Amino acid sequence: STKKLWGGRFTAQAESWVDEFGASISFDQLMADEDLEGSLAHVKMLKHTKILPADDCDKIVAGLEELRDELHQGKLEFSTENEDIHMNMEALLTEKIGPVAGKLHTARSRNDQVALDFHLYVRNRLPQVIEEITTLQTTLVEMAEKNVETIMSGYTHLQHAQPISYGHYLMAYYQMFKRDKERFQFNNVHTDISPIGAAALAGTTFPTDREYTANELGFSKIYLNSLDAVSDRDFALEFLSNASILMMHLTRFCEEISMWVSHEFNYLELSDAYTTGSSIMPQKKNPDMDELIRGKSGRVYGNLMGLLTTMKSLPLAYNKDLQEDKEGVFDTVKTILPCLKVFNGMIKTAKPNVERMKAATENDFSNATELADYLAAKGIPFREAHAIVGKLVLKGINEGKNLQDMSITELKEASDKIDEDVFEDLKSEVAVERRHSLGGTGFDQVRMQIKAAKAELSE
Ligand code: ARG
Repeated sequence: STKKLWGGRFTAQAESWVDEFGASISFDQLMADEDLEGSLAHVKMLKHTKILPADDCDKIVAGLEELRDELHQGKLEFSTENEDIHMNMEALLTEKIGPVAGKLHTARSRNDQVALDFHLYVRNRLPQVIEEITTLQTTLVEMAEKNVETIMSGYTHLQHAQPISYGHYLMAYYQMFKRDKERFQFNNVHTDISPIGAAALAGTTFPTDREYTANELGFSKIYLNSLDAVSDRDFALEFLSNASILMMHLTRFCEEISMWVSHEFNYLELSDAYTTGSSIMPQKKNPDMDELIRGKSGRVYGNLMGLLTTMKSLPLAYNKDLQEDKEGVFDTVKTILPCLKVFNGMIKTAKPNVERMKAATENDFSNATELADYLAAKGIPFREAHAIVGKLVLKGINEGKNLQDMSITELKEASDKIDEDVFEDLKSEVAVERRHSLGGTGFDQVRMQIKAAKAELSE
C-alpha cells in the first residue's frame, strides 16, 4: 500500500485487498474523458476568477490536454492504488507537471467532481440512445408503408379477435418507441444541470464562478443547492427507468416475433443472419438474438432496482454508497445500444409470410364482429345482434364451417335482415379497410399515421 493523496491524518495503512474493495477505478475509468473535461473547465474557472495564478493554470491545462491525447491513444494506465478515476488523473498529472498539479483540486471536492463526471457521462450518451431509437422508428415506418394492406389477425387474450393491417401493428410499436424517445429527451432536462462548485457539500469560501464553469461545459442550468448537487442521482434513476420501459417494449415485440416465427404461427421468417442452428437438431432455426434481447431486459430492470435500493434512505450528502451508482448505468448503456441495433437489423430483414397471415384470418370467426355490426347497421340493437351472431358461431363450430361458408338461407334463418351483400363484409380485407375511425386499422388511417410519423422523423 502506498501513500494516499488524502493520507495526512492517517498512520495505519489498509491492506491492499481492503483498498481494492474500496476502489472504483476498474469501472469509473469509463468516465476518464468526462473527468478531464470537467477538470479543464474547473481550472479555466480558477484562472478566470484569479483564484490561482494564470501561469499555474496554464501549466495544469497543458498537462490535462496532454493526458487527454494520451487517453485517446490508449496510453494511459490506471492503478488501483489511486482508488478512482479522479485520483488516478491527479496522480498522472502530478507525474507530468509536478507539484503544481496539486492546485487543481482548489475549491472542489471529489464529491462534486464525481457528480459532474456522471452527469457528463449520461448527458453524452443520451443522444446515442435517441439516435438508435430513431433508426428503429424509421425502419418501422418503412416496413409499415410496405404493409398497409397486409392482413393479419389481431389478438386479445392471444385469441383471434379482429383482422388488422400488419402496417397498423408495426405502427403501434412506432408509437411506443416515440414515447421512449421523448422520455430520454426529457431525461436531459434533469441531467443538464451542473453540480461542480458545490465542493464537498457546503460550497466553498473561494470566490468561484459556477456559471463560468457550467458554461464551459455546455450546461444550461446549475444546481442551486450544494447538498442536493452532490447527492442527486435522479438523472441516473430516470435513465435506468427510461431504459427499463424501452426494454419492456422490446420484450413485447420480441415475444411476438418468437411466436410469429414458430411453426404454429409461421407469420414471419427471420433472416439467417439473426438466427442460429442447433448443435443436435439439423432442421432448427432459432430466434436467438430475439430471445437474447428479451432476456437482457432482466439486467436492465435489475440495474434500476439496484440503484433505487442504493439510494433508498441514503442520508445527505455524499456517502460512499454512491460509488455503487455507476456500474448499473454503464451496463445499461452497454446493453440497450446493441439491443436497439440488433433488433433493428433483425426486424428490417424479417420477411412477413403474407399469404399465411391473411389465411389465418379466414379460417376462424374473427369476422363475427363484422356480422354483428352489419345487423346493428340495419337497426337491430347491438346486444341482440351479438346474440344472433353468437348462435351462428356456435352452429359453425358444431358443423365445422366459418360464417362466410354458410349459405344465405342458413344466415337468413338466424336473421331475415341478412342479405347477399353480407359476404362482402365478411371478407377480412374489407373488415380492415372499412375501419375508418380515427386511429383505427383502416388503410386510410394507417396511411395517416405513417404520414404523421414521417413528418415527426424529418423534424
Ligand atoms: N469513487 C467515488 C465515487 O465513485 C468518488 C467520490 C469519492 N468521495 C469520497 N469522499 N470518498 O463515488
